[in-house]
Amino acid sequence: MSMDLPPALEARIAGLAPLVRARCFDAPRHVTRPVMPPLEEYTDLLRGVWDRRWLTNDGELHQRLERELEIHLGVKHASLFCNGTLSLLVALQALDLRMGEVITTPFTFPATTNVLHWNRLRPIFCDLDPVTLNISPERVEAAFTDQTRAILAVHVYGQPCDVAALRDLGAQHGVPVVYDAAHAFGVQLDGRPLLEWGDVSSLSFHATKLFTTGEGGALVTADTALDRRIRSLKNFGIADEETVLAPGINAKMSELSAAFGLLRLRDVNAEIAARAEVTAAYRRVLDGVPGLTLPPQPKNVALNHSYFPILVDAAAFGLDRDELYGALRLFNVIARKYFYPLTSHYEWDRCYPSADPANLPVAERAALQVLCLPVYGELGAADAGAIGEIITELHRAARP
Ligand SMILES: Cc1ncc(COP(=O)(O)O)c(C=O)c1O
Repeated sequence: MSMDLPPALEARIAGLAPLVRARCFDAPRHVTRPVMPPLEEYTDLLRGVWDRRWLTNDGELHQRLERELEIHLGVKHASLFCNGTLSLLVALQALDLRMGEVITTPFTFPATTNVLHWNRLRPIFCDLDPVTLNISPERVEAAFTDQTRAILAVHVYGQPCDVAALRDLGAQHGVPVVYDAAHAFGVQLDGRPLLEWGDVSSLSFHATKLFTTGEGGALVTADTALDRRIRSLKNFGIADEETVLAPGINAKMSELSAAFGLLRLRDVNAEIAARAEVTAAYRRVLDGVPGLTLPPQPKNVALNHSYFPILVDAAAFGLDRDELYGALRLFNVIARKYFYPLTSHYEWDRCYPSADPANLPVAERAALQVLCLPVYGELGAADAGAIGEIITELHRAARP
């Protein structure tokens, strides 16, 4: 077994082979796993689609899912999309942001930064709050210029941004605040939906997300005129049979995805509760392990427990993040480096002065230290505890 170890790791951790033999999972524990609705219920819903022969374009199930999402999320308007990248792209179009800069985070999935380029907007990268790993309002404030058109923030891992400070900054400078809320389905802040904040928030319903339709997404807003523009833009810009108002795109969700979503929405709170047990099990085992920082648990936030990102300080833990990532794979634990690399490292983004690593010390460190451990309800507290113990034993082996 020790033959499989990366050489650098093998040299540093003596006697890992017996540990691997004792603790290796028989099947991979991936970073996440979708919950599938009962197949018979899905086919029942599909039977209706077959009968109606209405496959897309605001079908009956699509309309039902939008209404049910609005109620479930506690928001005024929820407009469904075929994925969370096109929803974000359309949000920027609907706000009519023209040629200029958008203040944003580099610590995110490629989609967040890429949609700026698709809208011919320049990302201005700003550094993070070291606790939440979301953009720091102080750094946002310092990044404003006369070219600033919007703030595009991410509630990374479902941890709320400093929404009040960002709202004030947006209002002060007369620019909208857009949230990439791909990770924030159902999160509550001070007993209210986090999605109430900002001019518009974008959700992803990708297969890796807590609430999924396979591929899918939504835009949420309280602004009825903006919602109307969004609905037209995701449908080619069409207003009625003979009127096209703007060069829109096709970003609609089909009835097949909406059917899946209706069934998943029914059980999503149970999945959140099961994930809460998984993350609690990690905390029980990992709290206090030297060199590990666990995600914050603010008292005024009801998290959705979608992710469990740990930060690994190599000097204190004994292994760096990449070594821990590699070692965990030997145990069939497939953690992920979300988010590494920073989007500011992409070839087409690194040219901007704001992408200079010296401007982004917190983000640079987080990208090198972060590791997302497996979280999904079916994993269960026992497996999460066992993964936590493997990590603890790796620490002991590396720093005897
Ligand atoms: C922060 C963030 N934004 C946007 C997206 C894009 O969403 P989608 O895959 O639904 O296009 C993702 C992940 O998929 C994400 O993690």
